[in-house]
Amino acid sequence: MIPALSYDDVLLIPRRSGVKSRKDVNLTTKLTKNIKINNPIVAANMDTVCGSKMAIAMAKLGCVGVIHRFNTVQEQVEEVRKVKRYRNAIIEDPLKMGPELTLKEAKKIMDKHGISSTLIVDQYNELIGILTSRDIRFRPSDDVLISELMTPREKLITATPLITAPEAKDLLMENRIEKLPLVNEDWTLAGLITGKDLHKRTLYPNDSLDRKNRLLVGAAIGVKSDSIDRAEELIDAGVDFLVIDIAHGHSDIVIDTIFKLKEKWPDTDIIAGNVCTPEGTRDLIKAGADAIKIGVGPGANCSTRIVTGSGYPQVSAIIECSKIAEEYNIPIIADGGVKNSGDMMKAISAGTDTIMIGSLISGTRETPGNVIVKDGHKYKLYRGMASKSAKDSKDNKDKKKQDDEYVPEGVESIIPYRGTVKEIIIQLLGGVKSGMSYCGAHTISEAKGLRNFVKITAAGMKESIPHNQYKQ
Ligand code: XMP
Repeated sequence: MIPALSYDDVLLIPRRSGVKSRKDVNLTTKLTKNIKINNPIVAANMDTVCGSKMAIAMAKLGCVGVIHRFNTVQEQVEEVRKVKRYRNAIIEDPLKMGPELTLKEAKKIMDKHGISSTLIVDQYNELIGILTSRDIRFRPSDDVLISELMTPREKLITATPLITAPEAKDLLMENRIEKLPLVNEDWTLAGLITGKDLHKRTLYPNDSLDRKNRLLVGAAIGVKSDSIDRAEELIDAGVDFLVIDIAHGHSDIVIDTIFKLKEKWPDTDIIAGNVCTPEGTRDLIKAGADAIKIGVGPGANCSTRIVTGSGYPQVSAIIECSKIAEEYNIPIIADGGVKNSGDMMKAISAGTDTIMIGSLISGTRETPGNVIVKDGHKYKLYRGMASKSAKDSKDNKDKKKQDDEYVPEGVESIIPYRGTVKEIIIQLLGGVKSGMSYCGAHTISEAKGLRNFVKITAAGMKESIPHNQYKQ
């Protein structure tokens, strides 16, 4: 039997470094065969970790989130749509209405969408004007037609849909306007660019974007018969990649699901898992997976290893699986058990391309679910997806009765409320960048697979943790 190691069993041996500062370190990495991200952290597809708010925050930080599947298809699709709508440099389907409406009717629609302006189009979808808050500020009455209040198209600055973000920014600034309608040659409406969206874009230059400049997002699916229908709806909603996520990913049913998905949607990248062996990695890659998720039982709220006796210590799992993935040039995702930026660095050195985390970002403002107040302190729930409470809540949604014989492989916990996820991610990325410098690496590809490990003892671990014996 070969001994296998986990994060606390090892340290990285420092190497000669040419890295002058953290600014010299670039954390760009591959999430899947075809998708790159600027920072290597992925928010776990758990119902107490990643909905649209978390996915938006992560993408804005150059990372990415995976929307969990413990909801109805409609709910999951809506979460994906929220991310995709969040900030397009181009809004492809802006609010529009016909000129025959009164201001009262138009305001009702605008209020419903939470938008203070609208484009006005005729029955052929040709732009005829725009109605903004400026146009309605000194209105005589709410019963007046919007066609009488709007700024007509002759007075509008418009652009073609091929305009780039910098060109649009120049046009908005030169003309001191906030909205730039995009029209085709025949004046049919093709979209809208707003100054506010362009401004957000400059605030987050590192963000993870798709080809249409929308935030990147993934979504999880299962392997039951309805998972292909779920996948179809998610792909229609614009999801960038799918994660087939089951506890024991080295199984025929996952392999079948990958085949089916790839046959129908060869251009949608599939992440598959979870596995912890070279054989599992190879089988999923051969079935067509575009990235493999590694980790059986290391997660903070997992009890799989206790309940089933199965699993594999995570550092060894990453080392062994990444060697196979490298043969096929397929990225891997180290999933679970990461407690700090040091563990992230160990995972990268072991051979991972990205790291999936749950516990580290649990309890933050962006996680789904309400803040719980107990004895004057704020908390949020974090639970394993195979916990009894996660199962009960899913059964509730599916209108099934509670399964009293369910054997949980996960636990629930209450996490002190920790503010925004941004603060945590910035600390983690800063720690990883420092870790890269200790390893003498400027890029993830230089650090990945260095495997500069030394095995430590319990005394070594004790020495590694702050242990000032004179502290008060
Ligand atoms: P961390 O340690 O970051 O781990 O909180 C997150 C990962 O844990 C996995 N996960 C589970 N594993 N039982 C398990 O054995 C569960 O109930 C469970 N829920 C989540 C999952 O891989 C996640 O990304």
